[in-house]
Amino acid sequence: MTGRIQDKVAVVTGGCSGIGLATVRRFVDEGARVVIGDIADEAGKALVGELGPDVVTYVHVDVTSKEEVDALFKTAKDTYGSVDIAFNNAGISPPDDDSILTTDLEAWRKVQEVNLTSVYLCCKAALPYMLEQGKGSIINTASFVAVMGAATSQISYSASKGGVLSMTRELGVQFAREGVRVNALCPGPVNTPLLQELFAKDPERAARRLVHIPMGRFGEPEEMASAVLFLASDDSSFMTANTFLVDGGISGAYVTPL
Ligand SMILES: NC(=O)c1ccc[n+]([C@@H]2O[C@H](COP(=O)([O-])OP(=O)(O)OC[C@H]3O[C@@H](n4cnc5c(N)ncnc54)[C@H](O)[C@@H]3O)[C@@H](O)[C@H]2O)c1
Repeated sequence: MTGRIQDKVAVVTGGCSGIGLATVRRFVDEGARVVIGDIADEAGKALVGELGPDVVTYVHVDVTSKEEVDALFKTAKDTYGSVDIAFNNAGISPPDDDSILTTDLEAWRKVQEVNLTSVYLCCKAALPYMLEQGKGSIINTASFVAVMGAATSQISYSASKGGVLSMTRELGVQFAREGVRVNALCPGPVNTPLLQELFAKDPERAARRLVHIPMGRFGEPEEMASAVLFLASDDSSFMTANTFLVDGGISGAYVTPL
């Protein structure tokens, strides 16, 4: 049986946990070979052991380092022969990124580097391979907070995701006639370690967010992986520069059901 991305080569950053991990598993199920870039070396090595080195390669990559990001995409090309899909997904949501009134410059800059500069670096590294091939699909992880404001602010996180969305739109337009599609995945709140860490600190904040989701629950990483697969595959061949919201209805709601 052939998969929906059979024999494609994908790079996934932040592939050792949450949305990235679910996507790595789904990509492999659908016939792709995947190169994971992450800083979670133990988890990365375990994943290669589980799925097999013929289909998964792990590379230690801090996504804020240009040299390491360049080496990640070169590994995909050298190991499996091409770079067809880039899922630029690694991101952080640390507790010291809060209201603008209390978030200091160091906390602001850290989130900008990991969430936004990383996407710039990954796109810059992936594009030359894709342009040479005349095809490719880039998916950048933004967030629903790129399109909506919240009074319970994470100021740098929200700003970084707005930047990811704008950059994605511009790249999608720029390279549309050269066969490279660039789309933004905008998840709603998803049940991953990132969200659990944020809300463990503040259950009231978790409850506040849940009340705004029409479906009344957080998303699951596997539900994001399905959306990423769609954007990565030819099923979405007429989509680029898109704001792909997968959010349980959160961005469409004014009032939610009780
Ligand atoms: N969980 C949510 O509710 C939610 C909602 C919207 C958007 N997102 C976004 O989805 C993406 C994935 O989030 P998640 O919830 O799966 O998080 P997660 O914490 O479960 O996984 C993030 C992964 O990124 C890796 N990572 C962190 N810093 C890195 C760095 N400097 N270099 C390389 N890898 C690094 C971590 O090791 C981890 O494996 C993030 O960009 C996040 O902002 C998440």
